Amino acid sequence: MAKIKCGIAGMGFISNSHIDAIRRVGFSEVSAVTDINYGLAKRKADECYIPKCYKSVDELLADPEIAVVHNCTPNNLHFEINKKIILSGKHVFSEKPLAISSKESAELINVLKQNPEVVAGVNFNYRMNPLVQEIKAKVNNGDIGKPILVHGSYLQDWLLYQTDYNWRIDKSLGGASRCIADIGSHWMDTVQEVLGDKIVEVCSDLAVIYKIRKKPKTQVETFATTTDIEYEEIKVDTEDYGAVMFKMKSGIHGVFYVSEVSAGRKCFFNFEIDGTKSSMHWNQEIADWMWIGYKDKYNQQVMRNPNLMAEETRQYTSLAAGHPAGWNDAERNNVYSFYKYILDGKKLGKDPSDFATFDEAHYIVKLTEAILESNKTKRWIIVNIGHSSIRKLISIINKNYKGELKTIIKNELIIRNTCAKIK
Ligand SMILES: NC(=O)c1ccc[n+]([C@@H]2O[C@H](COP(=O)([O-])OP(=O)(O)OC[C@H]3O[C@@H](n4cnc5c(N)ncnc54)[C@H](O)[C@@H]3O)[C@@H](O)[C@H]2O)c1
Repeated sequence: MAKIKCGIAGMGFISNSHIDAIRRVGFSEVSAVTDINYGLAKRKADECYIPKCYKSVDELLADPEIAVVHNCTPNNLHFEINKKIILSGKHVFSEKPLAISSKESAELINVLKQNPEVVAGVNFNYRMNPLVQEIKAKVNNGDIGKPILVHGSYLQDWLLYQTDYNWRIDKSLGGASRCIADIGSHWMDTVQEVLGDKIVEVCSDLAVIYKIRKKPKTQVETFATTTDIEYEEIKVDTEDYGAVMFKMKSGIHGVFYVSEVSAGRKCFFNFEIDGTKSSMHWNQEIADWMWIGYKDKYNQQVMRNPNLMAEETRQYTSLAAGHPAGWNDAERNNVYSFYKYILDGKKLGKDPSDFATFDEAHYIVKLTEAILESNKTKRWIIVNIGHSSIRKLISIINKNYKGELKTIIKNELIIRNTCAKIK
């Protein structure tokens, strides 16, 4: 069987785990790479025995042997490059966030609709951890009873010092939200996936801890440590910290907080789901373990064990118990699932997928915007009311209310939604 050949755009930090995962799939192969820094792309291509290295995304897209393109570029390029990939007829596996605004991500959804032969996925990889899928199965099987609360955090320290800098801090490259879009997006995707539910209302408090940061005059790769460099002072208006209270469609209440300035915390991603019978907690830094809490018997610390896991979860884990599975394994599961979908000739909109679709990732972009809006207006924001629903509600208000009361209700409706331009 001929392998499915792919190319990667953007050869920074995350590209390494894409290469590793693609190779572990078995029926896929990295055939070419590109980066705006050609020297970096060439060095990585040589180190990883990748045969072709292109000077631009356009050159890579012109290569007829490539069927899939992984978009590992900075956030501001996701829209433009994803769109180009779809229009070229190649499948696209994009890094998150899908785009830096819902206007952009909505357009990607439209372009994809016009090219239904293209398979498009987004690398929300945390959902693919074996024990995350096991908790999902246990929630579905009713093991925890009815889910009532969900809470957790994602904490890091890589931007703790004023001299820590990365392109994500620059709004024009990272987008209007930093911490929420970068790591909160993973948290929201994972709990939505586990609960099979959607966050529909949010109330947030965001904070910029360093309003001025010292940017190195030379470029620094994500998570790299540096010494002996010159700095320039840069104004910062994207959040280092965020806390979000939320409500889900089913009525579940939740809260999470994220930070990039919490000393000692590296990728401290954890969530707990509290049900009417028991609670379950998982922390990705000890990904092979989960905690189950009870009211009337001893709590349990449970080790991943493929022999004991739910039937539907076993596809996410092959390592025997005691051989730790972790971040790269979740990434491999995600990439495998995407390529298997292509291999099986499945079609988006018709066949369900366990990897995140563009629709799901577009919703996360909308959630991120609602969180920013809530922080700005100091109010709860309803997330997914479309323009047409708002127009309908406004016409009902116009018919049934008069004078000052009508204005107050209309203003409240407009403020509580992100589409503030509709009057
Ligand atoms: N899923 C995850 O767990 C995860 C983890 C880390 C990063 N990411 C995502 O991956 C993306 C990249 O992040 P990173 O940490 O690897 O950043 P990085 O800065 O280490 O790498 C980005 C690379 O893209 C290159 N690039 C810039 N413009 C380009 C262009 N026009 N064409 C080709 N290459 C170009 C840069 O030169 C750089 O090498 C981000 O969107 C980030 O959110 C996801």
